Amino acid sequence: GIKIVTIGGGSSYTPEFVEGLIKRHKELPVRELWLVDIEKGKEKLEIVGNLAKRMVKKAGLPITIYTTFDRKEALKDADFVTTQMRVGLLEARIKDERIPLKHGMIGQETNGAGGLFKALRTIPVLLEIAEQMHELCPNAWLINFTNPAGIVTEAVMKYSQHKKIIGVCNVPINTKMTIATLLDVPPDQLTITFAGLNHMSYGLDVHVNGESRLNDVIDLVTDPNHEVTMKNIIPLPWEKAFMKALGCIPSPYHRYYYKTNEILQKELEEFKQGKTRAEVVKQLEDELFELYKDPDLDIKPPQLEKRGGAYYSDAACNLISSIYNDKGDVQTLNTRNEGAITNLPNDTVVEVNCVVTKQGPIPLAIGELPYSINGLIQQIKSFELVAIEAAVTGSYEQALLALCINPLITSDVKAKDILDEMLEAHKTDLPQF
Ligand code: G6P
Ligand code: MN
Repeated sequence: GIKIVTIGGGSSYTPEFVEGLIKRHKELPVRELWLVDIEKGKEKLEIVGNLAKRMVKKAGLPITIYTTFDRKEALKDADFVTTQMRVGLLEARIKDERIPLKHGMIGQETNGAGGLFKALRTIPVLLEIAEQMHELCPNAWLINFTNPAGIVTEAVMKYSQHKKIIGVCNVPINTKMTIATLLDVPPDQLTITFAGLNHMSYGLDVHVNGESRLNDVIDLVTDPNHEVTMKNIIPLPWEKAFMKALGCIPSPYHRYYYKTNEILQKELEEFKQGKTRAEVVKQLEDELFELYKDPDLDIKPPQLEKRGGAYYSDAACNLISSIYNDKGDVQTLNTRNEGAITNLPNDTVVEVNCVVTKQGPIPLAIGELPYSINGLIQQIKSFELVAIEAAVTGSYEQALLALCINPLITSDVKAKDILDEMLEAHKTDLPQF
């Protein structure tokens, strides 16, 4: 049987993952699921662990759920390790979102200053996990959901001995499912050619049974009546004429870059009311954990759908199953470029369609990115590379440089103010600085 270890097991998203494992038990016979968390998350881990036990019991499946604070004990002989933890918990996300807004800049968990700080806190922990895997379960795949997923994945590939890591995000699969519904076609007849970086990838083309439907889809996704978006992103409508000119399908996250002013104004309103996304999520989490405590609850409650994680479970479980079963199907993943996008380095991590086999993901060739999107992607890649440098070295200069070259930080002077305030606020989670 298969042994899976989930780090950050006390997350409110865990029931989603457990549901996915239950659904696929025939093709993916998991015997052990180890939920690992830190002692500070004891109460949440217990609540989620008990719900997971009730879920597998109801399904009548021979999956044993373990909960532990001992990561090394859990990792021993694991087949798959998933990471979904949040270093510094939601309190840190609140700071990531509120401090930049206080200085008049966008506050977002994976973009701008928030994204940088999430990377600085997370990379050292992921490197430690990867080293432990190298020792305790060298053949296991590390499936990383922890954000910023692309940056974290690249840091592990470059700085750890354990190279078997794949970064996963639910945006591509969510986009695919939404567009399939809009076009009224079964999702398996639809192919979207995704290319770019995590939270920065575009759908370059859309095919239904071999025929391009790109223009129809651009019409649909720019129609304010049926937005393709995620619950965590303010659904401001796209300017249709612009999207037609761009000629590809944007990520919901591109709103931060193409509608910076509008998003900033909305975020500032939320900031004043104490309702940044992180604060809303904190309240949602409290509600979810109240539900999870109910001893009669033995399924994933529908309230979880208010979170941004739609199809998170399918993304994770499809990937694990395709590796385990050597399926050779196509999934959109964060992996080493290896020449798929010719105008990005081979050893950098990109988000592209990949064929998934026992050997892991093999990226499909994209060729050169169109000029119209290449500039932004290159700039974000520069930011990511500098952010990784800052995270592994603890260099103040590199952290400042990362902020100043990020398109969401529009002032070098404010960049320094934000950096100083955030370094202080996150001090306990940044031992390298
Ligand atoms: C999307 C992104 C995830 C992110 C989530 C946040 O699903 O792909 O990377 O973690 O949104 O959702 P939340 O409900 O926490 O704001
Ligand atoms: Mn994501």
